[in-house]
Amino acid sequence: MANRGGFSSKLGFIMAAAGSAVGLGNIWGFPYEVGQGGGAAFVVVYLIFCFILCYPVMVTEIAIGRKTQKNAVGAFNDLGYKKWNIVGKMGILSGVLILSFYNVIAGWAFGYIFEMAAGNFGIAEQFGDYIVDIFTVGAYGLAFMATTAFVVSRGVSGGIEKAAKLLMPTLIIMILSLVIYSLTLENSFAGLQFYLVPDFSELTGSVIYNAMGQAFFSLSLGMGALITYGSYVGKNDNIISSAAFITLADVGIALIAGLMIFPLIGFMTDGTMTEVGRGPGLIFVTLPQIFGSIGGTLGAIVGTTFFVLLCFAALTSTVSLLEVPVAYVVDEMSIRRSRAVWLVATLIFITGIPSLVGNGYSEFFTNFIVYVGADKATDFLSFMNHLANDTLLPLGGCLIVFFAAHVWKKHNLDEELSNGAPGYKGSFVQKYLNFAISYLAPTVLGVLFVFTVLSTFFGIKII
Ligand code: TRP
Repeated sequence: MANRGGFSSKLGFIMAAAGSAVGLGNIWGFPYEVGQGGGAAFVVVYLIFCFILCYPVMVTEIAIGRKTQKNAVGAFNDLGYKKWNIVGKMGILSGVLILSFYNVIAGWAFGYIFEMAAGNFGIAEQFGDYIVDIFTVGAYGLAFMATTAFVVSRGVSGGIEKAAKLLMPTLIIMILSLVIYSLTLENSFAGLQFYLVPDFSELTGSVIYNAMGQAFFSLSLGMGALITYGSYVGKNDNIISSAAFITLADVGIALIAGLMIFPLIGFMTDGTMTEVGRGPGLIFVTLPQIFGSIGGTLGAIVGTTFFVLLCFAALTSTVSLLEVPVAYVVDEMSIRRSRAVWLVATLIFITGIPSLVGNGYSEFFTNFIVYVGADKATDFLSFMNHLANDTLLPLGGCLIVFFAAHVWKKHNLDEELSNGAPGYKGSFVQKYLNFAISYLAPTVLGVLFVFTVLSTFFGIKII
């Protein structure tokens, strides 16, 4: 077998996996979902999903990857269940779809670095015009995809791991400074209250579905990204504790991103918090206004820092998204890594064009689809987002845990998990994981998947 490469150390894996998890999902997605989905009530449901249901899925993905040392499709073949590789193929498809629109948003963020550095805070009011200018934002997107491809082409330890080791700590330091800054502002407390004090009357079915999709997306689960990363992990590494660390890091950074943004919104809205429902534009519209209100050089520095940070976070995620189809092509089609990378990246960039032009430039992709029972059309990018995050990922997660527990069988999974985790056998964690992976996660995820599809696309609301 060709040398596939591997992480040089346990820390390298953890950093790369945490880098994959921490991305636009935490800093762009999480606050806007909180803003739309009723504040702290959403946060509570999100936390329950992450720790109770998603952590077991993460452990399972990494274990399957390490056991087989294969990509998301090859892993199922290697275990002897070829039919199940459809789950891996679905994962590759999700990865391609997610990266195609994710890169568009990353391109917007990339362009904002230059806008902020130039002190152009007025971009906030012109965000609509900014994203319609598809040749400019398209060029930013192309640059972002090329950077991603460059990192991935350097291979597992040389590219992915090195980038993550450098970028992750920088990111954390940058975010914490912005938290401290935002907490010093007037009316920051109103923001904190919205964010941290739950009002459970806000809790509806769609809050629950969104929290589930957000948890999967943010933790990079459900499409075999961690099967792929797991395939580069050493046999003596502790999967149980690594996954716990990755989950905590990801949730922690999302929570801190909220701590940075909601006090800023409190400040900007004089404590009324009326702007929080703004949706996907939150960080592109509201934040630059705040940086603008700081004004001058300081505003430019804070704004530039923020978008540099966002792009760092996005890059370690796009790298993992690209790695999934690349590993598949390298393993299964025996194409050289460097060639596979550029081929796949080009393909995904082209797949992303409808998401790029569907924000006002192309009428067709802007009003792409009207869901049954909806009163207005959904644009292509949001449609991709709903399709991948809220449906394909939880479905993938559900099938992966079901497969591990009932097809590959629990004792085999347990065997793999206990390599490198001496205290695992007989522990409470083992008992909980067995229960969650065999029964709890497949049932809850399966049921919620059906409910989400009915509710989002067909307007049939069961809860
Ligand atoms: N988790 C990343 C974020 O929060 C996005 C991401 C990277 C992802 N790799 C993934 C999502 C794999 C799902 C599957 O921004």
